Amino acid sequence: MPHIFTESLNLIDTPSSKDGVDFEFIAKSYEIQEHRQTEYKISTKINNKQYLINFRDKGNSFLLKPDLITRISPVGLLKKGLNAYVNISNSNVISSNTSDLKIKKEIQDEYLKDINYFVDDFKTNKEIQIEVGFGSGRHLIHQAKKNPNVQFIGIEIHTPSIEQLLKNLHIQGIENVLVVNYDARLFMEFIDSNQVGKIFVHFPVPWDKKPHRRIYSNEFINEALRVLKIDGTLELRTDSRKYFDYCVELLTNLPKGNISIDINKDLEVSSKYEDRWKKMGKNIYDVVLTSFNEDLPRKIDKDFSFDGKIENFDLIKLFDNLPRKSMVMDGYFVHFINTFKILNEENSGLIEVTFGNFDRPVSKYILVKDGKFSYYQGNPIPTSSNNIAHKKIKEILFT
Ligand SMILES: C[S@@+](CC[C@H](N)C(=O)[O-])C[C@H]1O[C@@H](n2cnc3c(N)ncnc32)[C@H](O)[C@@H]1O
Repeated sequence: MPHIFTESLNLIDTPSSKDGVDFEFIAKSYEIQEHRQTEYKISTKINNKQYLINFRDKGNSFLLKPDLITRISPVGLLKKGLNAYVNISNSNVISSNTSDLKIKKEIQDEYLKDINYFVDDFKTNKEIQIEVGFGSGRHLIHQAKKNPNVQFIGIEIHTPSIEQLLKNLHIQGIENVLVVNYDARLFMEFIDSNQVGKIFVHFPVPWDKKPHRRIYSNEFINEALRVLKIDGTLELRTDSRKYFDYCVELLTNLPKGNISIDINKDLEVSSKYEDRWKKMGKNIYDVVLTSFNEDLPRKIDKDFSFDGKIENFDLIKLFDNLPRKSMVMDGYFVHFINTFKILNEENSGLIEVTFGNFDRPVSKYILVKDGKFSYYQGNPIPTSSNNIAHKKIKEILFT
């Protein structure tokens, strides 16, 4: 993570600009929590991307580094913002790791889509098939070539695997695959009901010690059943007996689907992982869930507004009255973590909040500007748990 240690904590007047970087405002922690020092958050904007820089006392020096919740990519932009702040504030640098200014280009590719594309724009009349965690992409490419009339979606969180797949799609002239860098556990929510023929989950990480990180959960299975058409299948292939047993238990006696089980079944294509396990003489287990139900169309509620303005708004009163314990509701939670007051601006501040689904929480800052609220860096992704948590946040802020 890029960072700079300085001799003193120099603050600047905002808004101001330096070296193509805008500094919009500075907020100071309103209350000092246990084990935490006073902290300043500097709202920084480069190339239309906004993020916060943290500035805090470290004893013998002061540390400037990007705020984790709002960090942007590529990392070169974070460095540029830190260096510009040091320049504009005339700070003496003790040490830094921000001198390498090469800004790595983000991957641009016609087949690589942002999650917002699937939230707002994606439409197809074709059958969809989805591969979760495609890794080397061997299986996905095989399927895409074999089924040119199917629209494939590959979901991965590992950037080198994504780059490798995109390269292979171009080399082999394959045009029916879209790729998204996103957590597959949340992705299904944005796909229309009854449109998917197959979902492949081949050799997922078993997460024996952290089961909440597993792809399969009741929620994932329910969403899979919603997007699957009648006779559509959710196909797990794994070398982990534990993961297999866990999934069989989750998938047994569902009201909308039934399962079939296999051991050491041969597929037309064998993935890199599969080759490795087979060489080691391990068993390979398959569990296929077949949907027999037609589902209602999905509804996505994208409303993350904080309508209206509060009369006689008092930021300090709001900060003082915010509940500080995590509020756990049925299927979601809200936890107000910290508050910050914007310097030299009346009734303006930042509220750090974590909310949504327990296993996939989202952290955001709520920007308060003279009694008006909005999410800093824009709205959260409209998953159902984020949306219901937002309604709770609004209720708390407005009462
Ligand atoms: C063990 S590898 C298997 C890769 C490939 N399916 C195969 O059979 O060779 C698991 C893959 O799932 C990806 N993955 C793990 N968790 C994920 C998640 N929540 N969403 C999407 N992909 C994920 C990992 O990055 C990794 O590439």
